[in-house]
Amino acid sequence: MHGNRLYEGQKLALKYYFVAMVLFGAQLLFGLLAAIQFLYPDFLFGILDFSINRMVHINALVVWLLYAMIGAVYWLLPDEAQREVVGIKFGNLAFYVLTAAVAVVVLVYLFIQVGPGKESTIWFITEGREYIEAPRWADIGIVAVVLIFLYNVYATVMSGQRTGILAVLMADLIALAGLYLAGMFYTDNIAIDQYWWWWVVHLWVEATWEVYVAAVGGYILMKTLNANRKVVEMWLWIEVAMMFGSGILGLGHHYFWIGTPEYWWEIGALFSALEPVPLVGLFVHVLYDWGKERGKGNQINNTPAFAWLTVETFGNFLGAGVWGFMHTLPQINLYTHGTQWPAAHGHLAFFGAYVAILIGAIYLALQKKAGLEKLKMSKAGWWAISLITVGVLFMTVALTLSAYTQTMVERGMYGATWEGYFAAQANEWFWQGMCWRLITGLMVIAGYALLMYDMIRLAKKAPASEAEVSTAAA
Ligand code: HEM
Ligand code: HEM
Ligand SMILES: [Fe+2]
Repeated sequence: MHGNRLYEGQKLALKYYFVAMVLFGAQLLFGLLAAIQFLYPDFLFGILDFSINRMVHINALVVWLLYAMIGAVYWLLPDEAQREVVGIKFGNLAFYVLTAAVAVVVLVYLFIQVGPGKESTIWFITEGREYIEAPRWADIGIVAVVLIFLYNVYATVMSGQRTGILAVLMADLIALAGLYLAGMFYTDNIAIDQYWWWWVVHLWVEATWEVYVAAVGGYILMKTLNANRKVVEMWLWIEVAMMFGSGILGLGHHYFWIGTPEYWWEIGALFSALEPVPLVGLFVHVLYDWGKERGKGNQINNTPAFAWLTVETFGNFLGAGVWGFMHTLPQINLYTHGTQWPAAHGHLAFFGAYVAILIGAIYLALQKKAGLEKLKMSKAGWWAISLITVGVLFMTVALTLSAYTQTMVERGMYGATWEGYFAAQANEWFWQGMCWRLITGLMVIAGYALLMYDMIRLAKKAPASEAEVSTAAA
């Protein structure tokens, strides 16, 4: 379709994007509260506990990323398949069901902060599995919604044009959805519980989500730089092939200390370093081709989307590749495990690999919705990307410094004792790192405000015929 005429699937994508951006704001707000509580433990104590703020912070992160990921699929699906999404009515219904469920789950978190851990707790309040804490009733709802989503994708591709990007996504989405089931059953043996829980968390962010961003990143490159589909799809298949070696066996870096056999030490150490390589390869290759053609008038079609994709490529490499590798060898992990090291890595990796590219995907949609041939970066847009990126980068450095203190004091000097834990927490350098996290966190939040301003301004630009979408998206 041309100009600003959107497929029904793309209108649904805009709804998913809108909720994603709102949840992103909630994520940052609860992160801010948790960061203040690190410095002033009495702050909101008994009203909004640290455990709840932290839980909402990271669960909101995962949920909004999934929203934006589903949104991006609904966006590119009709464009790639060259036809309307099949069963879009069910897709719309699923969106409202999911959003209502998310709202109820969060309200329950906020109103029932402490209590006994019983069978009914798992069903109605929380399952207590970090990052995927939704209670079981919501889990079942999520499975139903995802089945509708998969039906939309498969039925559309089967009856439309099939591209390499769609083929990779079809396989990847099945794996991504299927893995969620590994985090749903309950066992009272914590080692077994952790063993399977990592299947979701690790095999999401280091296998299925990485393949997903390679597919969507390829699509964004084709749209922003008119990249060659053949080059994009070649790297996509390389990525898929490499994931079997690196991502899946890299799971071993979570099996060092939870009671699993020692052979995981070697497996985990060897295989986790290779993960971000294919994405950098794709990016460099496309950039090189574009550089050769630039003089011939091939200008960037959407500067914000491209800028965010650039942040993603290097952020992914730094956050996942470099910061991940820092603590992935068991000899080192023995000292860094349980410090702020994983938190430093977690912030930069999640931001670099997933937050950045999905913001880019949203900009791509806003351009088409507004019917713009080219989208240039606005002043607010530049401030937003700079504040958010520099903020997260510096926050990562601050957390790394705190982590370093913990590693030296708690682990090195005190030998991982209870006393050592408190000595490290009281150390001035640890505390200073926490202060910097708060300051850099405020930078990120200021950047988010500007980002929302820029996006809402763009969403409102829609021509009159699209007015009804604009109210849904803004
Ligand atoms: C985009 C990809 C990635 C994301 C989003 C990510 C995110 C995270 C997060 C949030 C944690 C903390 C989990 C917890 O709460 O316990 C973690 C742990 C870890 N990550 Fe990653 N990661 C990624 C890629 C990598 C890579 C490529 C490596 C290795 C080269 C790696 C190595 C590790 C290790 C060793 C731990 C465990 C730390 C410990 O428990 O002591 N990660 N990751
Ligand atoms: C895009 C931005 C952000 C992302 C992707 C992100 C991601 C994460 C992740 C993955 C964790 C869990 C880390 C772990 O347990 O290993 C976490 C924890 C946390 N985050 Fe964020 N976060 C972001 C922004 C912020 C901001 C702006 C603040 C504060 C102002 C913040 C404060 C915190 C705090 C206090 C924790 C708990 C750390 C702990 O338990 O030691 N985050 N965040
Ligand atoms: Fe991992």
